[in-house]
Amino acid sequence: MITYETIKQDGILLNANESPYPFSNTILEEIRQQIPSVAYERYPQDDACELREAYAAYLHIHPDQLIAGNGSDEMIGLIIGLAISPNKTVYTLKPDFSMYDYYTGMHGGRMITYSYDLNQPFHVEDFIQKGQKEQVNMILFSNPNNPTGRIINSADIKTILQAFPNIPVIIDEAYGEFADQSMLEYIDTFPNLLILRTMSKAFGMAALRLGFLIGCASTIARIRPYKVPYNVNSLTQMIGKIVLHHQEEMKDNITNIIKERERMYKQIQSMSLTNVQFFSSHANYLYGTSNNKQTFLQALKEKRIIIRDYADSDAFRITIGTQKDNTQVLSIIQSVFEKEGSICAPQR
Ligand SMILES: Cc1ncc(COP(=O)(O)O)c(C=O)c1O
Repeated sequence: MITYETIKQDGILLNANESPYPFSNTILEEIRQQIPSVAYERYPQDDACELREAYAAYLHIHPDQLIAGNGSDEMIGLIIGLAISPNKTVYTLKPDFSMYDYYTGMHGGRMITYSYDLNQPFHVEDFIQKGQKEQVNMILFSNPNNPTGRIINSADIKTILQAFPNIPVIIDEAYGEFADQSMLEYIDTFPNLLILRTMSKAFGMAALRLGFLIGCASTIARIRPYKVPYNVNSLTQMIGKIVLHHQEEMKDNITNIIKERERMYKQIQSMSLTNVQFFSSHANYLYGTSNNKQTFLQALKEKRIIIRDYADSDAFRITIGTQKDNTQVLSIIQSVFEKEGSICAPQR
């Protein structure tokens, strides 16, 4: 079983796919004004009713189609806990988010993974065939994928849902805001479809722990009784609502992150690099592999930049940061990997 490591270090943190943007003064001021009126001596609203309404409005769905969680992590634990027991299997991608492994192991289940070449198209029939052969009990993967940033298109996911109508198929859209597709429009078509979303990434609320499990109302009604009571604290509910009232600001942040991601990727493509490969991304990070990774990590460390290192492989993942941080990362990439004698691509 893989245990989940949280890395909290000083420096420029490009390791956990957090937002580089703190709350604006407008949001902070509203929070300040509302802090005295929170009923701290009381338990929170158990069903997070107003918060669910605000989030449902943001997604254009009904509040009965979602459960609010203490981070989407809590919701991952809930669905795995409900469906998985010893001898049961969760089918996921390799690589994917390590918490799937953590919760599956905790409930005595087994992970079955589907590895595929990032340089090749995703073969949905092959994925289905393996899952059917293994008689898997749950399908769960992130889309866009963490860590690769790759996306499996909605048509392929619909094919998966049709091939496995009797088991939960959970699509983790933690990075959905950075992509141009979502399975949200299919929740009423497929009762076995569940979607995970979070306010930790695009909304810059990682510290507050707020995520959601989404599905058709009848599926959600069956899961809701198993949710831990009072799981989303009153401050998080209050701040979540405020942030959802300032969606335009969040949308600007998302646009900036996507712009920076594309700038970085384009710039990297224009460099003449050796011993490294970067992959295009639909999320707020770039994934790469290199047989000279240690030199790269060391060069970043000297500038106090921390990225995610996949220690058992040649892979790494860089969260998109502020424009200044990204420019610094680009110049380190160039200095570590540029082929000798090549002409430097201009840096912006
Ligand atoms: C794919 C994926 N799902 C879920 C999560 C957990 O998010 P939350 O902060 O909502 O618990 C993460 C966090 O990194 C993630 O990468």
